[in-house]
Amino acid sequence: MSLSRTFIRTLSLATAVLMSSAALALNTGGTIAIAPTANSLEVINLAPTSSGNFIPQNIKLYEAHWQGMDVMKLTTELTRQLRYPIGMRGAIVNEVTLNAAMSGMLGGDIIVAVKDMPVTELESFVAATRQVKDLRYAAVTVMRKSEKQDGRGRYEMRQMVFVIRSVLDLGFAQAEGAPMILPGDPRPHAYRGPCTDCHTIGDGTFTMPDPDLIILPPPPLTVPQMRSGKRPHNDRGPCIACHQTKAAEPLRMR
Ligand code: HEC
Ligand code: HEC
Repeated sequence: MSLSRTFIRTLSLATAVLMSSAALALNTGGTIAIAPTANSLEVINLAPTSSGNFIPQNIKLYEAHWQGMDVMKLTTELTRQLRYPIGMRGAIVNEVTLNAAMSGMLGGDIIVAVKDMPVTELESFVAATRQVKDLRYAAVTVMRKSEKQDGRGRYEMRQMVFVIRSVLDLGFAQAEGAPMILPGDPRPHAYRGPCTDCHTIGDGTFTMPDPDLIILPPPPLTVPQMRSGKRPHNDRGPCIACHQTKAAEPLRMR
């Protein structure tokens, strides 16, 4: 199913009207709706309805950052791909740097407790870090994959405890949702439920120029630019294969 812009605008307008406690006029001419939510995420929808962005309430968390670690939601899909035990619960560490790396934790570890608070989901991980935010150290219990596999080809896990230490207070984890997607974007992953359970929808992403110039989208070129054949990169094939033309009429290549 592809979502049309109009549909999304209508929906976000409806949400704004329903949820707003205050509507202010912006100097851009639009209005902003401030939508307080009951959940701990405190998502505040400041998107002008004219922006076309749809910001669902109660969106699922996808990633959190704490003490140098990248922690992600552990899905059944991921558990299966990593061959971790069926029914494994917790939050999965994707990457360790800084204090997390110093503690001995590794990417792939599944966090099952912070101090004495059980972690079963990314949400409970974030909540647990709030309880230790003023401390300077806290024990983190993880399940780490062993070399051994069970009869079904799943790794056996062993429990380990690491101590995260900080010179200052530990602070609490900051969370992110899944990336914002455009209405009508195809789904690059398996079906995971309604798109708006996890994604904000609209045009709010920004692509950083990356140092290796790999992920920059090809900018549109004018016809003379294409005809000139002058390019800052090496030969990648016919220009129209990747670059959109800025010309109104379709480009005929000679
Ligand atoms: C349960 C959460 C969840 C649901 C539901 C979901 N997605 Fe996603 N989606 C993700 C996550 C997390 C990512 C980040 C990469 C990954 O894990 O595959 C992602 C990545 C994407 C991306 C790539 C975005 C980027 O910038 O990298 C697109 C496009 C996308 N999803 C489309 C969809 C569509 C369309 C639907 C509905 C049919 C949908 N998703 C439903 C969680 C979800
Ligand atoms: C396979 C895809 C591909 C092909 C074919 C291709 N380009 Fe590009 N081009 C890119 C990408 C991606 C970028 C963004 C920067 C980069 O990756 O180098 C780019 C950047 C450019 C830029 C810089 C524009 C800017 O504003 O920064 C010019 C000019 C350009 N290409 C010209 C051409 C011309 C002329 C041709 C045909 C002779 C061509 N390209 C063929 C992918 C392509």
